Amino acid sequence: MTAGAVAAAPVTSPLDVERIREDFPILRETVNGRPIVYLDNAASTQKPRQVIDAIVRHYERDNANVHRGIHELSNRATDAYDAARQRVAALLGITDTAELVWTRGATEALNLVAYAWGMNRLRPGDEILLSVLEHHSNLVPWQLVAQRTGARLRFLEIDDQGRLELSMLDDLLTERTKIVSLTHVSNALGTVNPIREIAAKAKAAGALMVVDGAQSAPHLPVDVPSLGADFYAFSGHKMCGPTGIGGLWGRRDVLEAMAPFHGGGDMIEWVELESSTYAPIPAKFEAGTPNVAGAVGLAAAADYLGGLGRDAILAHERALVAYAVQRLREIPDLQLLGPRDLSERSGVVSFTLADIHPHDLATILDNEGVAIRAGHHCTQPLMKCLGVGSTARASFYLYNTSAEVDALVDALHRARGLFGY
Ligand code: ALA
Repeated sequence: MTAGAVAAAPVTSPLDVERIREDFPILRETVNGRPIVYLDNAASTQKPRQVIDAIVRHYERDNANVHRGIHELSNRATDAYDAARQRVAALLGITDTAELVWTRGATEALNLVAYAWGMNRLRPGDEILLSVLEHHSNLVPWQLVAQRTGARLRFLEIDDQGRLELSMLDDLLTERTKIVSLTHVSNALGTVNPIREIAAKAKAAGALMVVDGAQSAPHLPVDVPSLGADFYAFSGHKMCGPTGIGGLWGRRDVLEAMAPFHGGGDMIEWVELESSTYAPIPAKFEAGTPNVAGAVGLAAAADYLGGLGRDAILAHERALVAYAVQRLREIPDLQLLGPRDLSERSGVVSFTLADIHPHDLATILDNEGVAIRAGHHCTQPLMKCLGVGSTARASFYLYNTSAEVDALVDALHRARGLFGY
């Protein structure tokens, strides 16, 4: 295979992947003399030329601070920044753009809810319901809040396929439950949680529902408001956008009732020495000079994903995962983790291979140009539940091909051989 080239696909995809790959300059890179096979998309995705160009164009033509200057460049930057919010909102089905707050990513979005809502409102005896599937970014902020407020953390467990034990909900959801915060899609196993169903139960119990959408916004055709939640957090860099930008969608009435998270310029209405009044949402939560170029880049990514079609992206990933699972099952001693029914998982395949440490596997694969993630995937409690220290994880996106799955499988066979299996 030559750099950037793809072989004939034994998977049926609605995407013209060969064409799409031309949009991603980095896919022409080589690693250790091999064409790069990038299968670490759950950690961060690559960027199409359209996103890179939008960022460069912004800095070359429109760069200035926003909402401050009365000059042409500031006006242009402000227009681009405000339009970016509309374009990203449109991709996610958000019609009231004031409900979309820019953050540095899903981690900051979850911290925003934990601090601005949780820290101010939770009392001793209140309960926060999480699950053992959560990424550290949806665990640690709540631990900090619980330690400071006296609230108690409760946890949904999982079955042997990494699916939430929904039967626990009826017992766990009580009048003490004030927050339910769950991931939509597990970054470590790919499990897709039935968020609509859970949100309906959480709301019926009188709790606020928070969704960590870091792994769903990039991969599923999510219509955020229709999930029935109160908050939805996402990251730009996992959906073809730049790093350092993401967002928090929140229901207008909830956001309006909340205290600010950060204080500073742009989030105020009026400031006196001893007190201030605050700007309307979303500005109330966006103190300081924002990441304008990041927002512009993420808007270009949203346009790009919307142009390809969210259903088509999902269908492509599902086809690739089905092919990957079929091929990985050929490898003796390889244990696949996560839901067996592939309609319950996104484009993530987590596995262990005999007693080869996943870090060793990832290193051997890297020598062959195949990039995967190995480790605990920022989900140490989940690893403990699964009884493994770490896993190897291949995660796919819209530019991956069945030839790359073959490269992964071939490299794993060779790794097995190197360890004498
Ligand atoms: N959350 C990212 C991952 O799953 C970093 O790899």
